[in-house]
Amino acid sequence: MPASMTFESAAAAGAAASVALQGLRDAGQIKPGQKVLINGASGGVGTFAVQIAKSFGAKVTGVCSTGNLDMVRSIGPDQVVDYTQEDFTQKGQCYDLIFDVVAKLSFSACEPALGPKGIYVTTAFSPGLALGGLWSSMTGGKKLVPLMGKPPSVQDQVFTKELLEAGKVKPVIDRRYSLSEVPEALRYLEGGHTRGEIVITM
Ligand SMILES: NC(=O)c1ccc[n+]([C@@H]2O[C@H](COP(=O)([O-])OP(=O)(O)OC[C@H]3O[C@@H](n4cnc5c(N)ncnc54)[C@H](OP(=O)(O)O)[C@@H]3O)[C@@H](O)[C@H]2O)c1
Repeated sequence: MPASMTFESAAAAGAAASVALQGLRDAGQIKPGQKVLINGASGGVGTFAVQIAKSFGAKVTGVCSTGNLDMVRSIGPDQVVDYTQEDFTQKGQCYDLIFDVVAKLSFSACEPALGPKGIYVTTAFSPGLALGGLWSSMTGGKKLVPLMGKPPSVQDQVFTKELLEAGKVKPVIDRRYSLSEVPEALRYLEGGHTRGEIVITM
């Protein structure tokens, strides 16, 4: 934990930052200068994914709804798309990497917006998706990569710590709950509209 950080911020950075890193770096093979789109940019993982993708030197587009546009803009993407107004897959833009953090899309829906070697990473996982991923990796071209989240390694935690210390990544905390409010916190989380992370304070 960076010495300058509060416990709340450090707690918010743990798992979500690790999923973002695994999705972009390991599954998505992100490279500097690439065009990267984050679907679900306003959520717990998405707010980290936008910032981590920027730290890799990518040109980042964040997709969120109208009410979250300002918050997402504040974490530094190059562009934002309001999914309630526009369908980014139909805008004639191509991305090297689409990270569907909230798993609301599909490989086939995103295909028109993927470059010739574009990668679609999704947090959804099923045997069918795994087979589809295997097939796409054998056939060249555009790839589907279902993200199999795993516990962060020590190296990944050190990597995240350094980004936090350098100020390249800042946790976005939506709400704080006390321990006795955990059921309410979980209900809010399950609603699927958190803005960044929620934290239980003890
Ligand atoms: N957060 C973590 O610490 C964590 C840890 C491990 C694994 N994961 C996994 O990572 C995945 C993502 O988790 P998360 O915590 O980032 O999710 P989340 O915070 O629950 O995502 C909520 C966000 O998704 C946005 N959203 C909802 N529908 C959308 C749509 N159709 N298009 C674009 N954005 C949409 C919401 O914005 P609007 O309200 O504007 O719709 C909201 O800001 C999940 O599979 C989760 O299990 C998360």
